[in-house]
Amino acid sequence: MRLAILISGRGSNMSCLADAITSYELAADIVLVAANKPCAGLDEAMRRGLPTTLVSRADFGSREDHEQALIYEIERSGADLVFLAGYMAILSPAFVARFAGRIINIHPSLLPAFKGLDTHQRALDSGAVHHGVTVHIVTPDLDDGPICLQAGLTVEKGLTVEALASQVLKLEHALYPFILYALCRRTLTVANGLPVWHEPTDTLSSAPTPIKSVLETTVIWPALDKNSN
Ligand code: GRF
Repeated sequence: MRLAILISGRGSNMSCLADAITSYELAADIVLVAANKPCAGLDEAMRRGLPTTLVSRADFGSREDHEQALIYEIERSGADLVFLAGYMAILSPAFVARFAGRIINIHPSLLPAFKGLDTHQRALDSGAVHHGVTVHIVTPDLDDGPICLQAGLTVEKGLTVEALASQVLKLEHALYPFILYALCRRTLTVANGLPVWHEPTDTLSSAPTPIKSVLETTVIWPALDKNSN
């Protein structure tokens, strides 16, 4: 499985995916880390010796031209899947169609709650009791595609936004590698743009301990009755 990872920021999820591939000997290869602006994550990917490219949005007059350049780089890399890991740009319907069913995103909320930005602050402001993270297939609608898996927590009273973000990030760093683990084992497949789980609970039981220990008490399976076999 060949992955392109798109980033715009610190790149901690990208690093976790790279570490998971190495530590758990996953049958996956990061063939490209692409950023739309200079960022710490791109520096880190370079430090790790991963193939990197900066396709800076600032160098292009339109989103369309920028996306064309990005498409060129992704296709040239031979990636099967595109993982968005803090990629701070809205993808056009044309871009999504080009990689239909092959773009996966991690979003720091329990979708459909809190699409968009500032999810942790909005969760606190609204008095949400449950919060967490979602991995989903990307469709043209922002943060709206079919859910692969979620992990959730109970929001403690009086928590600062920084503390909540850090708790959710811990979930992210287990959930995204688990998705990659399941895709590599083919216990998670994507058919017609929908995630399909095969033996999901066995997959989690067999997952590496650092993933399992976080997810076994926090995982939220999607409508398994309809979506698995
Ligand atoms: C994460 O919270 C991710 O869920 C969101 O953007 C953030 C990226 O963080 N989409 P990092 O760059 O992976 O550290």
